[in-house]
Amino acid sequence: MDFSLSEEHLMIRDAARDFARTELLPGVIERDNQQKFPAEQVKKMGELGFLGMMVDPKYGGGGMDTVSYVLVMEELSKIDASCSVIVSVNNSLVCYGLEKFGTEEQKQKYLTKLATGEKLGAFCLSEPEAGSDATSQRTTAIDKGDHYVLNGTKNWITNGGSADFYLVIAQTDKEKKHKGINAFIVEKGWEGFEVGPKEDKLGIRGSDTHSLIFNDVKVPKENRIGEDGFGFKFAMKTLSGGRIGIASQALGIASGAYGLAREYSKVRKAFGTEICNHQAIAFKLADMHTSIEAARHLVMKAAWDKDQGNNYDMSGAMAKLYASQVAMDVTVEAVQVHGGNGYVKEYHVERLMRDAKITQIYEGTSEIQKIVISRGLLRD
Ligand code: CAA
Repeated sequence: MDFSLSEEHLMIRDAARDFARTELLPGVIERDNQQKFPAEQVKKMGELGFLGMMVDPKYGGGGMDTVSYVLVMEELSKIDASCSVIVSVNNSLVCYGLEKFGTEEQKQKYLTKLATGEKLGAFCLSEPEAGSDATSQRTTAIDKGDHYVLNGTKNWITNGGSADFYLVIAQTDKEKKHKGINAFIVEKGWEGFEVGPKEDKLGIRGSDTHSLIFNDVKVPKENRIGEDGFGFKFAMKTLSGGRIGIASQALGIASGAYGLAREYSKVRKAFGTEICNHQAIAFKLADMHTSIEAARHLVMKAAWDKDQGNNYDMSGAMAKLYASQVAMDVTVEAVQVHGGNGYVKEYHVERLMRDAKITQIYEGTSEIQKIVISRGLLRD
């Protein structure tokens, strides 16, 4: 068993690390305070190829593996989880969904622009009454021959205001339950499509999260993804990979907070010595580092499973479940190590603590991950 990273992996990780330090760190506190979408930074991430990392180069992507993607996600998330969720949704939900299940025409028209970062994507599944219970879609898409008519509301949509293309899940035949659900590509600006107000969030405040309103939006039939009734499986299969992205985001938030706590403990003095010399602090660092390493192994295993063509439903869910808990635990401890300074914005750890919480909620709550894992365990 070889745990070492290849030269290419190290290069891409270091590029992301440099980018995060030079381009994301300046202004990260201001963007969080002002809920300012990182438009300039997203443009640069597109130029660096971070927005379509795993997409085939023939569609404008980087042609990289999932291991490279999680390495980049970790580095970006150490500094700015608002930026990394934008990267995650565009890569693992939108680009992946289109590349894997879209038609050639859909790939040429949409994927090529999303993979290069020229356009941004959003994934629209959640509704006021269909968050965890994703089969209970109230948004409808009525078949009118050559087009569908879309009506309904989506909630908590990452990139909701800033995206150009939206993958929208809707019910086309209520009688058929989850087999009567479809996924559609919808463009911003189409008649009847309205972006609702921006959510005022606890964390990842730089990313823009909106509700979306569809009022008799005409969607051409060629914008349906996959066969009729494939929408729910499309969402589930896409989310399985998305969970690896969020797991790596959680890992990054945890390792960012740990790094700050470690550095702080080496300069802050109390009772006549640097606080890292007190076991109360040193043991915290040991616990933080150990849990981060365990989370990293789960994240890497899930990424590796995807790259090998293995099923990754369970390994992705386990990685997300565990890494998001580690993100919460480690960020809380990082604030504690910083004492009063931990409660102050300029030290970054309070932001990381606020950002960590969403990793236990989006792309399936921790409870949803346990459903996926336990069903996988008990299947046979
Ligand atoms: N791959 C392929 N098919 C799958 C699948 C997968 N991973 N998971 C389920 N399915 C299939 C099942 O096989 C079944 O198909 P058949 O009827 O043909 O056998 C069908 O889908 C229904 O499956 P279940 O009976 O298991 O469905 P369920 O109602 O019990 O729900 C669930 C399962 C796991 C709880 C699911 O509803 C779920 O994942 N919910 C959470 C949704 C979620 O993650 N929402 C997050 C929103 S997106 C987001 O946050 C993005 C963002 O902006 C950051």
